[in-house]
Amino acid sequence: MGKKVLVIGQGGREHALVWKLAQSPQIEKIYAAPGNPGMAELAQCIDIAADDIDKLLGFARSEGIHLTVVGPEVPLMAGIVDRFQEAGLKIFGPTAAAARLEGSKVFTKELMKKYAIPTASFDVFQDIHRARSCVRTYTDQGKMVVIKADGLAAGKGVVVARDWEEANQALDSIMLKQSFGEAGARVVIEECLYGEEVSVFVISDGHDFVSLISAQDHKQVFDHDQGPNTGGMGAYVNPPVYTPQLHQKVEKSIVSPVLKAMAAEGYPFQGVLYAGLMITAEGPKVLEFNARFGDPETQVVMPMIEGDILPLLEAAVDKRLAGYQVNIAAGTCICVVLASAGYPGNYKKGKLITGLDNLNRETMVFHSGTARKDGQLLTNGGRVLALAVRGSSMEEAIDQVYQELKKIHFEGMHYRSDIGRKSLRQGV
Ligand code: AMP
Ligand code: GLY
Repeated sequence: MGKKVLVIGQGGREHALVWKLAQSPQIEKIYAAPGNPGMAELAQCIDIAADDIDKLLGFARSEGIHLTVVGPEVPLMAGIVDRFQEAGLKIFGPTAAAARLEGSKVFTKELMKKYAIPTASFDVFQDIHRARSCVRTYTDQGKMVVIKADGLAAGKGVVVARDWEEANQALDSIMLKQSFGEAGARVVIEECLYGEEVSVFVISDGHDFVSLISAQDHKQVFDHDQGPNTGGMGAYVNPPVYTPQLHQKVEKSIVSPVLKAMAAEGYPFQGVLYAGLMITAEGPKVLEFNARFGDPETQVVMPMIEGDILPLLEAAVDKRLAGYQVNIAAGTCICVVLASAGYPGNYKKGKLITGLDNLNRETMVFHSGTARKDGQLLTNGGRVLALAVRGSSMEEAIDQVYQELKKIHFEGMHYRSDIGRKSLRQGV
């Protein structure tokens, strides 16, 4: 009998995971909790929120789920993996203690310091007066400075400040107004790093790891990296700035040391380690670690992995990754996010989405914020859809994805028109 798999989450990242798992010959049925209309074409969506651990556990037990795959960070931090493991159920992801690599910036910065893992220099403060005087030492010299709330802040807890005004405003918002609640009880203040950002993904079983393909996200909402940060407006794989030699160096100086450090501290990390790196003139440095796949990076990483992904996830859960080979397809993959008017600020929902039926068969559509009502597909979030295409070259993939997305329409739809262009400037 085939296996049943449960994917937790409702965004484009989880749609891409479901899409990849749906190709596994070993899987009989996929469930998604809560899922979305895109996932509903491949999986049975069940109406349980991604952070309702009790209900998810009950469902996994009663349905005889073979493996649960966790997409978002919130349930990880809340201990979903610990709870499933205690119940004897297989689940892919780190324990709450290990997920602190994403959940506490103070924990992670201190770990990196202790184990000499390259990252921006930093200080930690609980007291706003001391935090202000630290910020002053940067801004008085005309230097940019980065202020980070310690805990999870839905991607909004980091401010790269150009001057004292901006820095002070960030401190006020995080520490005085407590915009992110407890997450802002402590702040990290760190030097600003310059370079290109790369997202590196490895799968770890707690001791051994295998690398997947790396990607580049486009965080700012407008072309040429202008405007406020978003969850990510598009991505492509194998950014030319990140050479195979550099990856080897990163495995040796960042990935392997952090996994060893976590095991040595008593929190072996199982799951996906997502290292957000800045490729600086002095070499790669860690901006952050995440304890989960990236969104929208997963929408380009999954199409590049050859073969069945289930055995890889199982090997990570069963601590059998030593010697595991992941094959990566030739060519490239790019995705462009279609967003609602106003995103990343306020936006309206419920706009009719048309044109999906006219896309080429090879074009992959990953739903992020959509809803189905009376048979119609409507917008239901800031990031609505990601269109992904594979190509033999970046030029070809870029041309193709931009031709395809012209076929789609919803009121106020906007997207960046320069996804992947940076890679062409570098001549690859
Ligand atoms: P984080 O959540 O720590 O990755 O921060 C979110 C984003 O802020 C990163 O993807 C970078 O674009 C930016 N960022 C964070 N730390 C720094 C830094 N030290 N220097 C420059 N940019 C940074
Ligand atoms: N693409 C950024 C993130 O997943 O955190």
